[in-house]
Amino acid sequence: MPDRAAVGELAAGVIADLVTRKPDALVGVATGSSPLPVYAALAQRVRDGVTDVGRMRVCQLDEYVGLPPEHPQTYRAVIEEEVLRPLGLSAESFLGPDGTADDLPRACADYELALRDAGGVDLQLLGIGSDGHIGFNEPCSSFGSRTRVKTLTQQTRVDNARFFDSLDEVPWHVVTQGIATISEARHLVLVAAGESKAEAIALAVEGPLAAIVPASALQLHPHATVIVDEAAASHLK
Ligand code: F6R
Repeated sequence: MPDRAAVGELAAGVIADLVTRKPDALVGVATGSSPLPVYAALAQRVRDGVTDVGRMRVCQLDEYVGLPPEHPQTYRAVIEEEVLRPLGLSAESFLGPDGTADDLPRACADYELALRDAGGVDLQLLGIGSDGHIGFNEPCSSFGSRTRVKTLTQQTRVDNARFFDSLDEVPWHVVTQGIATISEARHLVLVAAGESKAEAIALAVEGPLAAIVPASALQLHPHATVIVDEAAASHLK
């Protein structure tokens, strides 16, 4: 695609087609900057009256551990702001893990059950880290991993510091769906834009399957779609 807006339009179209076929589809959403044009394009479709997402359900990919619930950078707050509110969805349409729980392993297991009880994820939207991570499955995460607590790499903390007042404020720990959890979604849609993602995209799409590149797990999925702009595609053969 020529640019990130076009990536957003195309991915929003994929979600729109899904909810047209299955109005109560469970759509997994990612945070970070890559999916923002997708949410903007989907919201535009809703405003234009061409797509009805009124019964769509939304679930969360990952969450910081230890941020107070009122912090604007909890991923729950970001999803409310960027997805639920613009699409006119209520908090009842939303499923997410509890990053503030005292018993985090229990909260992770509960989230796995909640996803299963909801019928499984129909479409999971993903971004990709410059090191090839998906969700917060950092390099060397097991392809068999389930929802669990992970420690962020310093690189990811530095990458995400732009959303906080300082690097010190960026949490060290997160709860993330595992690679096996993510792979259970019926359709994976990964979006990426910009030169900084080009190497990760080339390794994920054309490299060998490798735990060092978590996104290479998409090669094992029966229905995975990678939507990139020209800059992010620039290292593909
Ligand atoms: C966030 C997430 C991460 C981001 C990735 C890319 O929910 O799952 O894997 O998708 O860190 O972030 P951006 O899009 O900000 O470059």
